[in-house]
Amino acid sequence: MRHFLDLHTLPPEELRGILTQAAAMKTARTGLPRGTVDDGAPFEGRMVALIFEKPSTRTRVSFDVGARQLGGQTLVLSGKDMQLGHGETIADTARVLSRYVDLIMIRTFEEQTLVELAAHSAVPVINGLTDASHPCQIMADILTFEEHRGPITGAKVVWAGDGNNVCTSFLHAAGQFGFDLTFTGPEVLDPNPDAVAFARGRGVTVTIERDPLKAAEGADLIVTDTWLSMHDPESARQRRHALLRPYQVNNALMAATGRETLFMHCLPAHRGEEATDTVMDGPHSVIFDEAENRLHAQKAIMRWCLRL
Ligand code: CP
Repeated sequence: MRHFLDLHTLPPEELRGILTQAAAMKTARTGLPRGTVDDGAPFEGRMVALIFEKPSTRTRVSFDVGARQLGGQTLVLSGKDMQLGHGETIADTARVLSRYVDLIMIRTFEEQTLVELAAHSAVPVINGLTDASHPCQIMADILTFEEHRGPITGAKVVWAGDGNNVCTSFLHAAGQFGFDLTFTGPEVLDPNPDAVAFARGRGVTVTIERDPLKAAEGADLIVTDTWLSMHDPESARQRRHALLRPYQVNNALMAATGRETLFMHCLPAHRGEEATDTVMDGPHSVIFDEAENRLHAQKAIMRWCLRL
């Protein structure tokens, strides 16, 4: 069975194949109304469950629209409205859902919940974000980079700010797609050491640089994310903002790259905090291409899971 749980656990050639299909499907839909079903309706007769234990705009809409464009049907479920949120085990939830649907996407808290759901599911499971990772986002980001700049292999990516779950998936992608990653942020928010070790083990350079201007030199891409992730307590806001303010992506940081550097943010953004409006809306920002590419990348991921 093909689960899509994390980037570092899948063969790189499978990830590349998914991106190739995503790009082809995107091209094939050029100019078509959003509600048009793809040629051949590969998901006709298929039901996809989308479970959300955390808020979402992009993941919710892009998976829902994507499954429908493939000709399938969807059930969007809120974790708190399910028995899962009232004491039913993850294992039993997985066994029950497997009797109704063909594919499950879940956004949850603990990575262990995802792993357990997949272990007990008779149908493929997709990671729609956990506290530890966000692989679908990074597949869309790689697709976006390559649309604008060509192959990402050998590129220099700079992650500025919090070494969070999205950063972890970027590190996994660095190892799988062969690009270098420089993290610039405060030491207490350093990225997951296992993800750093994974990337380095694949032969790419991962650099930790506290000086953001130095880190930015020669970057092909600068990426950032919110200073308070969904799993961080509100009480941490003030302290994290103080720590992260020096790592804001602004015109000075973009200029420090010394080249035409792309800017990405997975959104939602807190404009004026982790990135300024001038960067978010600037000529090198591809944030809305990233958002669109969630749709195309995830359609290819769903097709890969179901071998359709
Ligand atoms: N980037 C992302 O996952 O967006 P949502 O939280 O809106 O789904």
